Amino acid sequence: MTVPRPPEPIPGARLLFSLDPSVSYLNHGAFGAVPIGVQRAQQRLRDEMEANPLRFFTQGLVERIAHTRRHLATFLGADPDGTALVGNATTGAAVVLQSLGLRADDEVLTTDHGYGAVAFAVERECARTGATHRCLPVPLDAGDEEIVEIVRAGLRPGRTRLLIVDQLTSPTAKLFPTAAIAGVARERGVPVLVDAAHAPGMLPISVASIGADFWVGNLHKWAYAPRGTAALVVSEPWRERIQPLVVSWEQHGGYPARVEWQATLDYTGWLAAPAGLFTLRSLGVDRVRAHNAALAAYGQRVVGDALGVAPADLPDPGGPTVAMRLVPLPPGVATTVDAAHELRARIAERLDAEVSVAGWNGRGWLRLCGQVYNTPEEYDRLAIRLPTLLAQG
Ligand SMILES: Cc1ncc(COP(=O)(O)O)c(C=O)c1O
Repeated sequence: MTVPRPPEPIPGARLLFSLDPSVSYLNHGAFGAVPIGVQRAQQRLRDEMEANPLRFFTQGLVERIAHTRRHLATFLGADPDGTALVGNATTGAAVVLQSLGLRADDEVLTTDHGYGAVAFAVERECARTGATHRCLPVPLDAGDEEIVEIVRAGLRPGRTRLLIVDQLTSPTAKLFPTAAIAGVARERGVPVLVDAAHAPGMLPISVASIGADFWVGNLHKWAYAPRGTAALVVSEPWRERIQPLVVSWEQHGGYPARVEWQATLDYTGWLAAPAGLFTLRSLGVDRVRAHNAALAAYGQRVVGDALGVAPADLPDPGGPTVAMRLVPLPPGVATTVDAAHELRARIAERLDAEVSVAGWNGRGWLRLCGQVYNTPEEYDRLAIRLPTLLAQG
């Protein structure tokens, strides 16, 4: 088998991160990794906060948050007036769900590629309101047109009060045609929430051009922001209806301040988030994207080859910037949540490699990410050692 050539490394990139050099960190998609320069920027803000907490919180913080929000919204191609900073994608989804005013007979539609914790939030909101959660199966190899048709057929206008689709899915690393889906839903009068947890930084996105009612994305994964930095973007007609999870002093400040101000939190991560964008731009946004996607594709091929998976059987998420790739595990391996967790932990402990393992549709899947701090040798090492580990059961 000929494995594609790995991309040229980005010189010095690894030194920008604090990662333990003894570990192959192949799971940037889980919690991100914050560059040292961004950590320092946040620490400087914390120092300022601790020098005089009262002054920090009461003199200009709301305006500084608004300034940061405008900066980040511009990067995302989103309307700054529709953008609210939130702690994470899960929070953004919860804000939307509890603002809908669901009733019995309403339903929330998701797909079977959705994120587990968001599905739990849907289930809880449905249990609280009497609404129903329906999950649409979408084949892993479905093309864009097929996906749009599945969604079109699945919508029940008048009954479906929200459709949630993921821009890039977590368990299956699959790119969904969110703009086309939003178009179909709009024709049918069904509001759409795009869960774009992985999109900022990784994908060249323009939130406005997707045309969804709600969009949420994490900046703390691929945009190198400190953890706890996400953006919720709400279309104009919905803004007045959006309520925060925690009511605080900006309750009468209108959207988005009402959603952003969550009492006494540490807001320094948000204020330092532009330093993450600065790092990304300094390395070269297109260069980073091309490097990461090519490295993930390389990793998928070498690990897939080691497990005896033919290249044609390796899922292709579509798109030259997707920096997460799946490798199917042998039948019966890691098919359940518990078994997947156990295997992930075993790989970390015995092979010094952090990867994602998920059971999806009766099959176990390894998810490999590519980042500027990774090298081809890290995937090679995993490929050499993984078959033995799996054979040990
Ligand atoms: C598709 C998707 N949605 C939501 C989340 C949750 O992100 P967070 O934990 O930052 O809320 C993730 C995390 O990986 C994700 O992949």
